[in-house]
Amino acid sequence: MGKVQSKADKEILRINKLLKITEKITHLKDIEALLDRILIEARKFTSADGGTIYLVDNKKLRFRYVQNDSLFKAGRHSNKHLYVDHSVPIDQKSIVGYVYKTGKTLIIDDAYNIDKSVPYTCNHRFDETASYKTKSLLTIPLRTSRGRIVGVLQLINAQDKKGNIVIFSPNDIIYVEHFANNAAIAVERAKMTRAMVLRMMKVAELRDPKETGPHVNRVGSYSIEIYHQWAHNKGQSVDKIKQFKDNFRIAAMMHDMGKVAISDTILKKPAKLTSKEYEIMKTHVVMGARLFNDPTSDWDEMAAEISLNHHEKWDGTGYPGKIDDIFKEPIEFHPGKKGEEIPITARIVALSDVYDALISKRSYKDAWDEKQVLDYIKEQSGHHFDPEIVEVFFDIYDVIAAIRDTYKD
Ligand SMILES: [Fe+2]
Ligand SMILES: [Fe+2]
Repeated sequence: MGKVQSKADKEILRINKLLKITEKITHLKDIEALLDRILIEARKFTSADGGTIYLVDNKKLRFRYVQNDSLFKAGRHSNKHLYVDHSVPIDQKSIVGYVYKTGKTLIIDDAYNIDKSVPYTCNHRFDETASYKTKSLLTIPLRTSRGRIVGVLQLINAQDKKGNIVIFSPNDIIYVEHFANNAAIAVERAKMTRAMVLRMMKVAELRDPKETGPHVNRVGSYSIEIYHQWAHNKGQSVDKIKQFKDNFRIAAMMHDMGKVAISDTILKKPAKLTSKEYEIMKTHVVMGARLFNDPTSDWDEMAAEISLNHHEKWDGTGYPGKIDDIFKEPIEFHPGKKGEEIPITARIVALSDVYDALISKRSYKDAWDEKQVLDYIKEQSGHHFDPEIVEVFFDIYDVIAAIRDTYKD
């Protein structure tokens, strides 16, 4: 191709780019990972500085995700803002409400100069609290092929090559709308996956009342945030980290699924287990590994790994130890795995799970107070827990606390 590109060439390049980014989002399973990717790609495509996705939840538009380059310039990795809950009523008074209600894309060139005759106004509260100046806005409904609107995608402040804020190009709209349709389908599917996982957990919860929905949601979130910081410290690329997190959250949520194979008399026994009962209880880690035995799926492999290893301890005093054949009967335990023999996923889940169990109230025990829990975790660094993971846990403790606030019992 010569130096001068014809209009048609440019269009072909754009369509090609669009196909590629659509492909990138369609294989993501985890809803959070997906929303993150949708925003990254939509912002890249339109050169937008910021963006937010609102999803319909409980008759409101819940603001589920925000990315803003100017505000979140990389310092320490913190995803605290992801766990801030914010929602907008579904009516035409706000821009996102209007777009949701009418199903029409809206382009605004200047958020501080909106025509008085329209039903919506721009809420400047975000600008005021964040000292940010929103100017151009592109707000698009996330509509599935069956016409259902699952949420709204809003892109903020288009930029030219020099970083000046400009208006969104009407040429972009048709492409971004197409992308939004695909995104909507992926969102619907990821929501269904999450619902299926939670339903599976509900079944497990019937058997073991300790493994509640909020508990597994918290363990999943703590685990991916700890992983993110840990991998970031090791110099891993953001793309790789995000790909890993897509599998990791759901796999971490399943850590105790193997308990469905343990009898009620043991799981629900109100008194201390006898040593024989405890030995049976311990088999839940192997039962879980059997449940997820599908080597063709990365996700299953990770879920099996976590299930098998989440009761191993850094100093080698955990269980089940090295097992060559998970299907061998009877199940035999061996000396515990030590240190880095334990997969990183399981080292992280071990800490997330114990922390959450101690700090939450459960039917058979009161919650420990926070200081007691944190002292215990420090004390167990190098014994039960990987010292590096303990360190990361304290580094991002503000995020951990925000997660607890989001998924209350
Ligand atoms: Fe367990
Ligand atoms: Fe648990």
